[in-house]
Amino acid sequence: MGSEKNSPIKSLMPTGLLGRSLLILMTPMLLLQIVTVLIFFERHWDTVARQLSRGLAGDVAYVIDYLGEYPDEEHYRSLQHSARAHMQLDIAFEPDEILEEQTIEPPLGLVSEELFVALTERVQRPFYFNLDLDNRRLEIRVQFKEGVISIVAPRKRLYSSTTYIFFMWIAGSALILYGVAVIFMRNQVRPIRRLAKAADQFGRGVNVDDFKPEGAAEVRMAASSFLSMRDRIARHLSQRTALLAGVSHDLRTPLTRMKLELAMQQSSPGVDALKQDVIDMERMVDAYLAFARGEEGEKAEPTEIGKLLTDQVGEALRDGQQIDLHIEDSLEMDVRPQSLRRCISNIMSNAGRYANNLSVRAGRRGHDYEIVFDDDGPGIPADKREEVFKPFYRLEESRNQATGGVGLGMTIARDSARGHGGDVILEDAPGGGLRVRLVLPIGH
Ligand SMILES: Nc1ncnc2c1ncn2[C@@H]1O[C@H](COP(=O)(O)OP(=O)(O)OP(=O)(O)O)[C@@H](O)[C@H]1O
Ligand SMILES: [Mg+2]
Repeated sequence: MGSEKNSPIKSLMPTGLLGRSLLILMTPMLLLQIVTVLIFFERHWDTVARQLSRGLAGDVAYVIDYLGEYPDEEHYRSLQHSARAHMQLDIAFEPDEILEEQTIEPPLGLVSEELFVALTERVQRPFYFNLDLDNRRLEIRVQFKEGVISIVAPRKRLYSSTTYIFFMWIAGSALILYGVAVIFMRNQVRPIRRLAKAADQFGRGVNVDDFKPEGAAEVRMAASSFLSMRDRIARHLSQRTALLAGVSHDLRTPLTRMKLELAMQQSSPGVDALKQDVIDMERMVDAYLAFARGEEGEKAEPTEIGKLLTDQVGEALRDGQQIDLHIEDSLEMDVRPQSLRRCISNIMSNAGRYANNLSVRAGRRGHDYEIVFDDDGPGIPADKREEVFKPFYRLEESRNQATGGVGLGMTIARDSARGHGGDVILEDAPGGGLRVRLVLPIGH
């Protein structure tokens, strides 16, 4: 198809309805989440980190100032006590220690940077901090003349856990939503699949059992329209066959009467020709009746095509025909076996009648199963290839008088092939004769 160019984006897109509807559903949601996280949350996180760092740095500054002003043992003890009680800070003094001063070196996280800035602002002394003292605590160390003050605080004072919870919620809710969407969409797509399968089977002449229309209103409507269309077509077909069979049957009585009438006439060239015409007409009517009766009510059933073909060729070989059979691969398909047999035997009997040798090849071609019959006879001119499918049409009447067909074989063959959703196609055989291609769609 011209419009369906294979652009790289298109080839990445899912082709199924399920995939597409999920894409339609999820793309806006993912975009929304990404935008939320990027724009809103980054700012929020910045602010939170700054506020928390300032709070902690303020407390540390208070402790440092207090100790600078009251360096005696008693004040130190009471500060230690109230800092633990009210600010969650553990204070310890390490005499004669010397600090290695904190530097900021990338890559330091956002929190470290904020804390560094806040401490530099508030604490006018050399300091050092370790944010990963252990899982739950961090340490800030400040240099005094007499030694180092170590202040240990819970990590919670700097890190807001809601940040991670928020992320978990976003990812988790996306997953849950996706799961729910998959379950719901699956249920919506299933009835469409079932309808497609039923339509495909009907097209190939396989009986479709009644199925209950399910799913969304539109799908249900399509399904019930399909079912009633199927019934209408079936009724129409059987009515037409019955009508033609009725007409043919009714023609037999006047034909018999004419035959009797003619038998009593004296022989003359005119009467003899008339007799021959009546005999021909009788044969046509009988051939049609035989076909119409056989057509009625045969059900499709799983059939091994290769075996059916082998049987049919075997029969023709016993009748003395020269046939070269080559089955590339066989397949089990739902077909009406009698109808398909009639189709194949009509094509082969033509080859037997109009040619000497026949080669038959069968195998899978893409979505079809193809049986190709090549003979070495005179072939059929290109402009007559559609004509021979018409009922009672025969090429070169004079030649055929001797061979004795009525001209229904090709009509019946094509009727059967089309009843299976396929076709009979006439071409030139490489060896000069006629090539008949019998194409049967395999179906989904
Ligand atoms: N393999 C073939 N090679 C050449 N001509 C063919 C071949 N098959 C069919 N034809 C031509 O097509 C015409 C129609 O074929 P069709 O099978 O419908 O009728 P028929 O063979 O004449 O009679 P019957 O009803 O007994 O089959 C034939 O009369 C014949 O002229
Ligand atoms: Mg024939």
